[in-house]
Amino acid sequence: MAEEVDVVVVGSCMTDLVSQAPRLPKAGETIHGHKFFIGFGGKGANQCVQSARLGAKTAMVCKVGKDSFGSNYIQNFKDNSVCTAFVTQTEEAMTGAASIIVNDAGENAIVIVAGANMLLGDRDLVQARSVLEKAKVMLCQLEISSHISLQALRMARQCNVKTVFNPAPAIPDLHSDFYKESDVFCCNESEAELLTGARVSSVDDAGHAGLELLNRGCAAVIITMGTQGCVVLQASNPEPKHIPTTKVTPVDTTGAGDSFLGALAFYMAHYPSMPLEEMSKRANLVAAVSVQSVGTQTSYPFKKDLPAELFMK
Ligand SMILES: Nc1ncnc2c1ncn2[C@@H]1O[C@H](COP(=O)(O)OP(=O)(O)O)[C@@H](O)[C@H]1O
Ligand SMILES: *[C@@H]1O[C@H](CO)[C@@H](O)[C@H](O)[C@H]1NC(C)=O
Repeated sequence: MAEEVDVVVVGSCMTDLVSQAPRLPKAGETIHGHKFFIGFGGKGANQCVQSARLGAKTAMVCKVGKDSFGSNYIQNFKDNSVCTAFVTQTEEAMTGAASIIVNDAGENAIVIVAGANMLLGDRDLVQARSVLEKAKVMLCQLEISSHISLQALRMARQCNVKTVFNPAPAIPDLHSDFYKESDVFCCNESEAELLTGARVSSVDDAGHAGLELLNRGCAAVIITMGTQGCVVLQASNPEPKHIPTTKVTPVDTTGAGDSFLGALAFYMAHYPSMPLEEMSKRANLVAAVSVQSVGTQTSYPFKKDLPAELFMK
C-alpha cells in the first residue's frame, strides 16, 4: 500500500554527463577537456526534487534502466525524500542520458537519449493509480511519451487531483486535450511561441499568447519570463497579470523553469486556497535562488535556506 503524498510527478529522469572543454570539438576530432562531472537531471525529476526540498511529500512515477545510472538515480530520489515505489528499472533500455559539452564561452552542444523514459507505459500508470488518486497535485511534462502524459492528466482529473502541465520540450501540434485537462498550463517564452505561432518577447506579448492558450481550454496559464518573472492568466479572470521578480546576479540559469514548477506544485498542494498570483510570486523567488548557484538540482534550495515569509499562509 502506497503512502499518501501531496505531489505526484509523472515524468523523466536523465543522467547529465557534462564535459567542460576550451571549445566544442569538430566532427571526427578529439580534444581534451578540463573537467567532467555527472549530474541528476530530467525535467520530471528536477521538478519533483524541488517540490520535495520545499517540504512537499512527493512520489515520482518514472522508468530508468537496470544500470548503475538508474540505481544511482533511485538513491538520489531517496536522498531527497522522494517516494520511489513507482520508479521501475527496465532491461530494455538504458537510463535516459544527456551528453553535454560546455565550452569556455558557456556555449554548449547536447545529445539527449531518452532511453528508458520512453518505455514508461500504461501499465506503470495503472500501477501508480493508488498513489495518484490520493494526491493533491499531479505534475507532468513532455520528456516521456506524450500519450502517457495525457493519460496521466486524464487520470488525475478523474480523481479530482489538480493538474499542472509543462509542455516541455514543446511539440508544435499538441493534442487539444492537453489544454482541457490542465488546471495550470505552465511554459516559458519559447514554448509559448511555438504553441501559438506568435512571437513572445515582451510582457504584453506573453499576455496575448497566454490568452490564446487559455482559450484552448486550460483553467489557468503561466508563462515564465526569466528575469521578468512570469505572466499569469485564469479562466475565471482572464486579464493577464504580470508578476515581476527580484533582481539577482545569475550564475547558472539551467533548470530555473523546473525549480519554478516544483515550487508551484508545492504551493498548490500546501496552500490550496492561496491566489495563483501569490503562488507564482513565491515560485519566482524560489527559482531566483536556484539561478544564483551552479548546476541543476544542486542549485535548488531547501525550505531551511529560504525566508520564512515564503511559507506563511
Ligand atoms: N536571471 C534571473 N533572475 C531572476 N529570476 C530568474 C532568472 N532566470 C530565471 N528566473 C526565474 O525562473 C523562472 C523560470 O525561468 P525561465 O528562464 O522563464 O525558464 P526556463 O528555465 O524554462 O528557461 C522565471 O519565471 C523566474 O522566476
Ligand atoms: C524554454 O525551455 C526549453 C526547454 O524546454 C529551452 O530549450 C529554452 O531555451 C527555454 N526558453 C527560454 C526563453 O528560456
